[in-house]
Amino acid sequence: MHPILRTTAVLALWTSQATASQNNTAPWPTCIKYSTVTGYFLQDEPDTNATTFDYTEHDFGLIKRNYPATAGLHQLTQWQKFERQVEALNADAPLDTVYKVLFLGRHGEGYHNAAESFYGTPAWNCYWAELNGNKTVRWADAHIDAAGIEQAQIAHNFWKHEIEDQKIPYPQSYYTSPLSRCLQTANITFSGLDLPAYYPFVPTVKELLREGISIHTCDHRRSKSYIQEHFPFYNIEAGFTEDDELWDGVRKETPDAQDARSKKWLDQVFVTDDHTWISVTSHSGEIASTLRVLRHQEFSLNTGAVIPVLVKAEFLPESEAPSTTSWSWTASSHCTSPPMTSLQSKDQGCRCTGSKVTTPLVKVTNTNTAGPTTYRGPYRRAL
Ligand SMILES: *[C@@H]1O[C@H](CO)[C@@H](O)[C@H](O)[C@H]1NC(C)=O
Ligand SMILES: *[C@@H]1O[C@H](CO)[C@@H](O)[C@H](O)[C@H]1NC(C)=O
Ligand SMILES: *[C@@H]1O[C@H](CO)[C@@H](O)[C@H](O)[C@H]1NC(C)=O
Ligand SMILES: *[C@@H]1O[C@H](CO)[C@@H](O)[C@H](O)[C@H]1NC(C)=O
Repeated sequence: MHPILRTTAVLALWTSQATASQNNTAPWPTCIKYSTVTGYFLQDEPDTNATTFDYTEHDFGLIKRNYPATAGLHQLTQWQKFERQVEALNADAPLDTVYKVLFLGRHGEGYHNAAESFYGTPAWNCYWAELNGNKTVRWADAHIDAAGIEQAQIAHNFWKHEIEDQKIPYPQSYYTSPLSRCLQTANITFSGLDLPAYYPFVPTVKELLREGISIHTCDHRRSKSYIQEHFPFYNIEAGFTEDDELWDGVRKETPDAQDARSKKWLDQVFVTDDHTWISVTSHSGEIASTLRVLRHQEFSLNTGAVIPVLVKAEFLPESEAPSTTSWSWTASSHCTSPPMTSLQSKDQGCRCTGSKVTTPLVKVTNTNTAGPTTYRGPYRRAL
């Protein structure tokens, strides 16, 4: 079936369920079943070590091998062969199945990443991350720092090399998280590449690609107007609210709720976008969650790294959809002065020296349109 017809057919199915969701009702139409097709990328192989893996040294991880679709085609680059193989998979697929390749890129190092290393994770989670910054740097909706800019430039140079020398397929669509570190990373990575006029770098800013939401101010996005002003060529998705309505400075999204959200954006992309080669700029936690939904093995990305995934999506009848579950978020506590330690590094299990509170970080002003240095964040700690 022609891809557009295929999309139209599932759209009907999709809209019939489109009511499920402004709250954290999970998941979005569960009738799309995702899996990772293994055997193509090193990142799918159990013996690849994510900590030391460098995607720029391994052709994005594409395994050198032959495919049924390219037998005898010796003059092609590995990426050209892979492109033909993916085309063949789609051509031979049943009508309810589609294959896409997602390039999931993590943003370059942000001021919040550097600050977490500086203060140590326990003190960061329980105290510093709830502030907008310290006297010298700001990390609420953190920008990327010098190291992060360099990582994005490495990604840019690597894409340039892959396009020119390896003939990698051009991304046909781009999506990015609304947090500044991703908006910036995507900009540096893809601006100025020799891209075809029919697949321009015009990323869609998607709310659901943001990082797992906690009370950390680095998870609180700026306004739609700010994004429009600073990234005028980006396309902001329909329904994107002016202010961040998900971050409340009290509650934390649970892993289950985040996976449901990841499935929801995947469903939105797989239902509305009939392109095959798709670039996504997001975060470590959100990409980890996406990989869980795609049933990919765990693979933690370093800042600035990119992982390609060959995804198989099967559109199952609605009757096979698991019943929807709603996941509630949990309240987080934090300390009113820097803690000596915390019980768990990843959770807000804070062991405070002063008092421990769950009171919200208080909203003091709604103007969050100024640039990074003059930005006076809309929240301050409640004491
Ligand atoms: C979520 O929203 C839907 C649609 O608005 C509603 O029917 C449902 O009851 C809500 N669920 C929860 C848990 O609030
Ligand atoms: C991956 O590499 C890191 C750094 O060399 C090492 O500490 C870690 O043990 C390795 N992990 C595995 C599973 O081998
Ligand atoms: C603020 O945090 C940064 C770490 O990101 C650190 O280098 C700097 O020294 C801190 N500033 C102060 C005044 O402590
Ligand atoms: C990328 O950032 C630069 C500098 O801030 C800006 O001039 C340019 O418009 C941005 N590009 C896009 C595509 O938004």
